[in-house]
Order: sequence, then C-alpha cells, then structure tokens
Amino acid sequence: MTQRFYVTTPIYYVNGAPHVGHAYTSIAADVMARFKRLDGYDVFFLTGTDEHGQKVEKAAADAGLDPQAFTDQVSAKFRDMADRLNVSYDDFIRTTEERHKVSCAELWRRIAAAGDIYLGHYEGWYAVRDEAFYDEAELTVRPDGTKVAPTGAPVEWVREPSYFFRLSAWQDRLLAFYDANPDFIAPASRRNEVISFVKGGLNDLSISRTSFRWGIPVPDAPGHVMYVWLDALNNYVTACGFPDPDAPRWGFWPADVHFIGKDIVRFHAVYWPAFLMAAGLPTPKRVTTNGWWVVDGEKMSKSLGNVVDALAMAETFGLDAVRYFLMREKPFGADGGISHKAMISRTNVDLANDLGNLAQRTLSLVARNCEGRLPGRGPVTEADTALLAAADGLPALMRQRVERQLFHDGLEEVWKVIRAANAYIDHQAPWALRKTDPVRMAAVLRVLADVLRVVGTVLQPFMPASMAKLLDQLGVPDEARDFRALAAPVADGTVLPAPQGIFPRFVETEA
Ligand code: MSP
Repeated sequence: MTQRFYVTTPIYYVNGAPHVGHAYTSIAADVMARFKRLDGYDVFFLTGTDEHGQKVEKAAADAGLDPQAFTDQVSAKFRDMADRLNVSYDDFIRTTEERHKVSCAELWRRIAAAGDIYLGHYEGWYAVRDEAFYDEAELTVRPDGTKVAPTGAPVEWVREPSYFFRLSAWQDRLLAFYDANPDFIAPASRRNEVISFVKGGLNDLSISRTSFRWGIPVPDAPGHVMYVWLDALNNYVTACGFPDPDAPRWGFWPADVHFIGKDIVRFHAVYWPAFLMAAGLPTPKRVTTNGWWVVDGEKMSKSLGNVVDALAMAETFGLDAVRYFLMREKPFGADGGISHKAMISRTNVDLANDLGNLAQRTLSLVARNCEGRLPGRGPVTEADTALLAAADGLPALMRQRVERQLFHDGLEEVWKVIRAANAYIDHQAPWALRKTDPVRMAAVLRVLADVLRVVGTVLQPFMPASMAKLLDQLGVPDEARDFRALAAPVADGTVLPAPQGIFPRFVETEA
C-alpha cells in the first residue's frame, strides 16, 4: 500500500492581510508536500484559517462588519494567497465550518469524559494579540506603565468563570513523551526550550471564555465558548474527518509534520499533545518550527506594520524566484533578513547565471547541432562519470535534507552539482567539438541533458512552474517526472521543443 503522509501549515488568523511570514510557512510546507508526492507518498496537505476568538472579533468590529462576514472576506484573501503562491493544498479548512464545530464538541466531550476538565474561575493576565494567558512573572512593565507579555503584546486582567484543562497533571507524561520522541520538536533549540518550560511546572489551562461570544460553544455549558487555541489546534484532526472513524481521510491522522512559526511552539508542543493524549487520540509525529524574517532587525508582523508582501515580490521577480529565495536564503529554523539586494543576487546569480545559462547553453547547442533531438550517450569518460554520479546522488541527499526541513542545505547540494556542470561544459567545450569530434560533442550534451533532468526533477517542489518548463524542454514526459522515473532514461532521439530562457535576469529600472 502506498504510504501516507500528512503535512499541515498553521491556520492563519484572519485579523489582517497575509504577508511574507505567512507565505513562508506555507511555501515550506508546500515544498515538503510536493517532495513527498514525487517520492511516491499519498500526501494530504492541509492549510486554512483560524477565525474565532477575541482578536478576530475585535478586528471585525474595527472593520465595522459582523464577524462572519469579516472572516468570509479575509479567509478568501488567505486562500487566494495560497493559490497565487502555487501552494498545492488538498483541503482548506475554516474553523467557522460546521464540520469543525462538530469535531471540537466531540474532542471536548472526550477530554471531559477522561476527567481532565473542571469548572472554576479564571483570574489573571491575557494578551488578545497572542490569544494567550500569561503569569505575572512573565510580564515586563514598559516605561509608560503598561504591562506586556514576552512577545511585546499588551495584556489585560481577566476575571471570569472558566473551564480548566488539568494540564498540571500532564507534566510527567509530556516529559516522557518528548523523551520517547526525540524528533517531535525541531530544531533542537526549540525542543530544549519546551522541555525546560515543562520541567518548570505546568498550571492548569483556562479553556473556555465567558466574556465574549465569537467562538465554538462548549457542549452543555451555556455562556461558555471554547478557548480559541483548543478550537484552532483541533483543525488538524477535523480535516481528517474526526469524529467519524470511517471518514476517508481518517487514516492520515496522526500528522507527520506540523509546520509552524517559533512563536506558537508552546501551543503545538505542550498543549496539543496533552489535549490529544487526554482525548485518547494519537499525537502528531513532528512539529517543525521556522524562524523569523526580519526587516532591519525587527520581526515582521501585522501588528508592527513593517510587512513585506510575498505576492508583490513575486510580481517583481517571478513567483519561483521568490519561492527559491525564501527556501535558500536562511536555514528554516533560524531568523534571517529579507532584502531587495539579496533577492536580486539570488535571482541573477543562482537562477539566471548558474542554472538558467547552463540550461540555455546546453539546449541551444542541441537545437543547433543535433537537429533538435536528444542525442544518445557515447562512451563515458571519467569526467562524465563523476558528474553523472554527483547528479544521481541528489534525490537521496535531498530526501535526507527535506525530511529534516534543511531546505537551504538541500538546495546547496543541488547548486554544487550545477556549478560542477558549469565547470564541465566550460572544460569540455562542446561548441568547439562540433567541427573536431561531433560524436563526442553529442555525448557531452547528453550528459548535460541528463544532469539537468535530475536537477529539474529534484527542484520541482521548490520551483514547480519553472522546472516544468525545463523538463518540457528536456523532453521528459509528464508521467516521468517523479524520483522513481529517474531510473529510466529519456529515449534517444526524442524531439525537443525550441529552447526558451527559464530565468530572466532582473534589471533594476531607474525610477
Ligand atoms: N492562528 C494561529 C495559528 C494556529 S495553528 C493551529 C497564528 N496565526 S498567525 O496568522 O498569527 O501566524 C501564523 C504563522 O505565520 C506563524 O506561526 C508563523 O509561522 C508565520 N509568521 C508570521 N510572521 C512571521 C514572520 N515575520 N516570519 C516568519 N514567519 C512568521 O499564529
């Protein structure tokens, strides 16, 4: 049976327009989903929007709209962003959907039936911006006297009746769980943070609110709506058809990997497995966390108002160049700067020069000197074997990197081969062989076409549209573009379409 693979993005708050931070997590998850499909897995890739809670209620009020009308509007923007970024999601979940309300009510009932929920009174600090509760000890006081959370979000004092989740009882079981699942949280720095947070002791968690209405009602508890994070986290299970055990997608749970930003680790790595274990459901296999894109040293966010728009970047540079840039420019788990200058350099050096020229030189020589047909291999030289072996090793190298979300590292491996291929073409000089040794010229061009095919195949998850163009030009049939198909060569003599540049150079226009 085909192995299943379930990958998710965070579901995005609909309190403002999408920006490059959201685009980034979605593109990274998309790379993983596409990679797994090419590697023969049956993939389920989920994204969507997080639509309840005080923050969204407030944003709707500010916009002068009823919350449902507001969330319909903003959710559509996020879906449009995913489509325009060529994010290949299989399902787009909205937490205001009926299926999700049914699923949350059942999750609640199961946790309650296990004895992990009790009614009490919450009194403490709450940050609407983070939709999170904070202890007094975590807060700092600004010079103007306002108290803020470690994230910088202002907090307010909340006092209301509330249901609690007995999180304090889960400390040892959570620590045992992290111990038994060393790959559950990545990267390691985040894992250590989570473990020391849990070791520090856990308070019971307030999981219902009574002071506003925009949420999923708690079963049999008039006046209470579920804490937005309980509702939000459960989206991953809803999308698999919970609570119907016969739902076609139920077999995808537990998720193989949740992609999230480092700001929401505590929710995914502490609360989420505890809720699931309490409900008697399997826990996800991995939570992988990305670092921040920063502009002039500051985190980009809707609240800070210093946002970069990925779609605007895509209009200037082309979507695939932006996808490549985001995956290549910094390690996934780390913070990194985003700048126009760095974007130009990746576009012109890596894409236009290194890869684009290699493809263009090879394909135009084939067009001109081999009657536009893919030449056959000749007797192989040592140089040919070395280059072909490096290319053939790429799917396995890439697999190791992508499994651990080391995307930038995987791309560097591909570029090593591209650079080696550029050195090879310069050294073999097929243009000069045309007169002296046309047989060898054809053999050299075939080696290059085969290397480009491997490169184009493994880069598809990163740059789907451009690599489709490259593979078209190399005469690779549509059904022969996954990793397994690399074992069978493209037929000698295949007629190739007229070559066309894939990556234009970016030229700054004077304002
Ligand atoms: N709704 C919650 C997630 C619920 S998941 C069950 C949420 N939404 S969010 O819209 O505020 O942000 C979602 C994610 O966007 C972050 O976790 C992070 O992955 C990404 N990013 C937001 N700003 C970012 C940067 N400046 N840089 C990189 N990624 C960032 O949190």
